[in-house]
Amino acid sequence: MDISAFKKLFTETYGTEPSVYFAPGRVNIIGEHTDYNGGFVLPCAISFGTYLAIAPNNDQKMRFKTTNFKYKTEVPLSELSRKHGDEWVNYPLGVIDQFIKREVSISTGADFLFSGDIPNGAGLSSSASIEIVTAVALNDLYEANIDRLELVKLSQLAENFFVGMQCGIMDQFSIGMGKANEALFLDCRTLDYEHVPLDLKEHSIVIMNTNKRRELSESKYNERVAECGVALEELRKAKPMIDLSDITLDEFEIHGALINDPIIYHRARHVISENHRVKLSVAALKRGDLVTLGQLMNESHESLRHDYEVTGKELDTIVNAARKVKGVLGARMTGAGFGGCAIAIVDKRYVEALINKVGHAYEEQIGLKPIFYVARVGDGAGKIA
Ligand code: GLA
Repeated sequence: MDISAFKKLFTETYGTEPSVYFAPGRVNIIGEHTDYNGGFVLPCAISFGTYLAIAPNNDQKMRFKTTNFKYKTEVPLSELSRKHGDEWVNYPLGVIDQFIKREVSISTGADFLFSGDIPNGAGLSSSASIEIVTAVALNDLYEANIDRLELVKLSQLAENFFVGMQCGIMDQFSIGMGKANEALFLDCRTLDYEHVPLDLKEHSIVIMNTNKRRELSESKYNERVAECGVALEELRKAKPMIDLSDITLDEFEIHGALINDPIIYHRARHVISENHRVKLSVAALKRGDLVTLGQLMNESHESLRHDYEVTGKELDTIVNAARKVKGVLGARMTGAGFGGCAIAIVDKRYVEALINKVGHAYEEQIGLKPIFYVARVGDGAGKIA
């Protein structure tokens, strides 16, 4: 990203000098669909992200523009809490709405220019990246003095209540709190977390974009959230629980029979077994046992495929193709699923082979060209200029 060209574009558009902020995207190494069940996750921030140039104006308006597609809009300060259909601008507006709810005085208007290099709809959390970059910038602009953890939480609320996606806290947390070369082991119930060095030795994480857009993902995602709620109600007959992650895998073997509906049973089994895999993965990573980590990633994908049913033929095809390549320790989908990206841990010497072989096999079977990126694990959000 050429920051001085970006600032120049802002000045040409709005006539003022901006400050510039950045928030990354994320990949999740393991711990999928556990966050909204009070479970464990192991994500990390990546070097792709969202840039925001921002400056105050005297026009009593918020003006929004992006370099990613043709779009601009302006919203008077008196109408900030109104949702704009299904438009992209709901992400920053949702965050502004949360600031208003926290009684931050929105004393002046502001001009926003966004620019993102996270592939759209790829499940690398471009939406949380927009929310967090907005929250961090507004916090400075309106001198709101909200600490980073609160910015993370309010960004999640923006998505839950303004955008309408019942997401957990993983994406906003990893984007707000990530550190270069470290993964975040997060307990999504207590928000206790630990930075775990992501020492992959001679291996890389390769992101494999299926280029299948995540259609209908929002409604299917919310459906999974509701199914977990049903499972929780059933399991509460056995023990008091706040959420699904309050039951261990051993306990589930005994009490799982309380759940009559086989679909609901499988949803619960995924969440509970995935929590177990995250803990084993953190231990494996700490002792440098990447072979075990790779196996756990494979198991995670199978559970998401059979029990949670969020993979689909594109993700399954790309993951299966990757597992056949020499030097690959494990592969799984990452993020919400229903399309989007998978990741593989692969010996650096075989990255080229992976790209060629998987590229070929996937295109032949699915008819879409996949895209590959070698992930760089970057820092969380902040001001850059
Ligand atoms: C999306 C959501 C997250 C999380 C993942 C699945 O990325 O935004 O909160 O639930 O899906 O693990």
